Amino acid sequence: QELQLNLEQIEKGGYDHFMLKEIYEQPDAITDTFRGRMLVDKGIVKMAGIDDNLEKFLNARRIIIVACGTSWHAGLVAEYIFEEFARIPVEVEYASEFRYRNPIVYKDDVVIAISQSGETADTMAAIKLAKDQGAFVFGVCNVVGSSISRETHAGAYTHAGPEIGVASTKAFTTQITILTLIALKLAKHKGTLSNSEFRAYLQELERIPAKVAKALKSNEQAEHVASQYKDASNALYLGRGYNFPVALEGALKLKEISYIHAEGYPAAEMKHGPIALIDEQMPVVVIATKKGHYEKVVSNVEEIKARSGKIIGIVTEGDEEVKKLADHVIEIPETLEPFTPLLATIPLQLLSYHIAVMLEKNVDQPRNLAKSVTVE
Ligand code: G6P
Repeated sequence: QELQLNLEQIEKGGYDHFMLKEIYEQPDAITDTFRGRMLVDKGIVKMAGIDDNLEKFLNARRIIIVACGTSWHAGLVAEYIFEEFARIPVEVEYASEFRYRNPIVYKDDVVIAISQSGETADTMAAIKLAKDQGAFVFGVCNVVGSSISRETHAGAYTHAGPEIGVASTKAFTTQITILTLIALKLAKHKGTLSNSEFRAYLQELERIPAKVAKALKSNEQAEHVASQYKDASNALYLGRGYNFPVALEGALKLKEISYIHAEGYPAAEMKHGPIALIDEQMPVVVIATKKGHYEKVVSNVEEIKARSGKIIGIVTEGDEEVKKLADHVIEIPETLEPFTPLLATIPLQLLSYHIAVMLEKNVDQPRNLAKSVTVE
């Protein structure tokens, strides 16, 4: 048993938990995702699975993304990115809903199935249904040779390396990265981004690993914030635009490993319900980065403050306005708006991690959850 313990410690590479190790692996994991695919100097994105099926993507009536859990959140970010960059209509579906509701699937639809494990039963069933209806199905998986990677017509691996912690971290950011590469590639072929926009996005994407590394420096701050709110029984996460799915993912991370009830909401929907919950007991994590409807989010922050909610702002470096209103702020580096999810997610992962550790929960293997859900 001692030997086994030692082996596990070695596998954790000096970190207390796999989750923390995997959070810290993100700069390298993202680099591995675009290595060999993104040729910034040449202004090219190379991906065999897309190149071989380019016409299908370019002529797609729409893209339907099917996934579960955190992968579904990556799909939501991808919806914003595909529509913005490539101007292809996108629908994002929970695989479990899609498969059971007799969905309309056209032969010229492209279905993208996202799955870290490549084994999720509902996602697998959604793929089979889409194939039966004649759609082209593309897989985005992490585990090489997994069932979903074999069942799809073509695909791209995220190359994030093994993810052991049940709560998904590096799989999420690498899924967003690969989907961004696909959207950029399609945008280039469709001419929906100008050459200079395309290059600017590629150049910025190349800088993301360094910026993620910088965002990881918020670890101590996240730990401090965690110490203040670890005993909360509820938490609210708000974000708009590209950061709305990040709010969902932040809330999911907290629920999964700390068992604190948390909800993610698009910030503007706050007034249609969640605002009724806000009082001095309620921590509200607000993603309020510059550009993404910043002024609107600031006014949401004011509304929370007026009701004595506790505000934890995730802000762009150098932010002044939210700092004046919030109880705590955690800064992340500035980037182009579509890439903010890759940075804003980092402090939210760290916050959940530290809360779960402080509450002495089983971070890597939370109760009732499984890494891959092969049952329906
Ligand atoms: C489980 C895991 C989650 C994951 C989801 C989808 O619930 O605990 O972390 O996001 O399944 O898994 P997949 O492997 O398909 O991405």
